[in-house]
Amino acid sequence: MVEMRQRIDDRYVTAEKYTTLRGIHQDARKNLSDAQWNYLWCGTGDEVTLRDNTAAFDRYLFETPLFAGISNPDTSTSVLGFDLSFPAFIAPFGGEAAFHPEGHLAIGRAAQSVGIRQMVPVAASYSLEDIAAASAAAAIFQMTFVGDEGAVLAMMERAKDAGYRYICVTYSPIRQWRERMMEDRFSIRGEKGPANFGPGRSDPSSLTELLDFTQPRWNWAQAARAIARAPLPCIVKGVTNARDAQAALDAGAAALYVSNYGGRTVDRTPAALDVLPAVRAAAGPEVPIIFDSGIRRGSDIATAIALGADAVALGRLIALGLAADGEAGVRRTLELLQREFWTTLGHLGCSSVGELTGDVLYRQARS
Ligand SMILES: Cc1cc2nc3c(=O)[nH]c(=O)nc-3n(C[C@H](O)[C@H](O)[C@H](O)COP(=O)(O)O)c2cc1C
Repeated sequence: MVEMRQRIDDRYVTAEKYTTLRGIHQDARKNLSDAQWNYLWCGTGDEVTLRDNTAAFDRYLFETPLFAGISNPDTSTSVLGFDLSFPAFIAPFGGEAAFHPEGHLAIGRAAQSVGIRQMVPVAASYSLEDIAAASAAAAIFQMTFVGDEGAVLAMMERAKDAGYRYICVTYSPIRQWRERMMEDRFSIRGEKGPANFGPGRSDPSSLTELLDFTQPRWNWAQAARAIARAPLPCIVKGVTNARDAQAALDAGAAALYVSNYGGRTVDRTPAALDVLPAVRAAAGPEVPIIFDSGIRRGSDIATAIALGADAVALGRLIALGLAADGEAGVRRTLELLQREFWTTLGHLGCSSVGELTGDVLYRQARS
């Protein structure tokens, strides 16, 4: 891993291919077919939640002090025992070979070069073992609690054997209403993978269960039992209210992950940022909280931390970097995010991530 505290190169003049995230976004759009782009960018229903996830960040403004004496803030932090160069993880997103043939292999290498960690989804285009072998960034394995408990525990053992340190638990009760993908007749099975199933891997019926929703979904009692038997500590993803925060902690969760999956599950649910303070209040100050859904620039990371997250996860931004320029595109995306976060910390008078509190924010009235 790279040295965590770094002097950031903040000059405007650079030989880098991309000077801002905008250029990466534009190249990603050029490189993808309409169907691939829709898979990346779609939400559900009218995509109200997808839009509100980002609009929620616009409802906060920063308060900047004068003469705070900061010139080189420290963006590094430690979350879940991982030393990170800035408070971010790669979010788990499946079917990623639709964006670039090297998928999560390239993402892991880029994450390692920048000094952050990767969450690897069960629906990845490469197997969890191949992704773990590609880089030391692969640290958290995301899987859905569905079907047979024995199969779920066996998959966790595989993740442990491959060197993962946490399981990110997800829940998905029924297929999502994604009209862009319906219009495109898109199937992730039509892309490369998912590679975790099949001969020598996990039973393909687990994949059917994951994608086709043939059996009733689990309840909290089943989830608690699997968490208790799990060979690795579990992070529960999809927490969006105080009640579920408490239920997840009662079930044995080691950390909470506030997310509405980037507006990809059910539309007209609240923006993830809007529910973050209530989840932090319910969890208390010590429980680690990861946040995603709506991060679009480095200053958004500061807002999420100030509202109670310990780190954010990056989904679509990483997919854009991957689609634009493979590993180099992801690395540049991460560098630009870290650099803008660094600049934001400095302007807010914070010399370290720990100094980012609600005091740096104004909340605007909702229009
Ligand atoms: C193309 C795509 C595929 C995704 N696949 C998964 C997945 O397999 N498992 C999962 O837990 N989340 C998945 N997600 C959700 C992301 O992990 C993350 O929660 C989301 O991207 C956050 O929203 P944002 O990217 O708009 O910030 C996916 C997201 C995208 C964009």
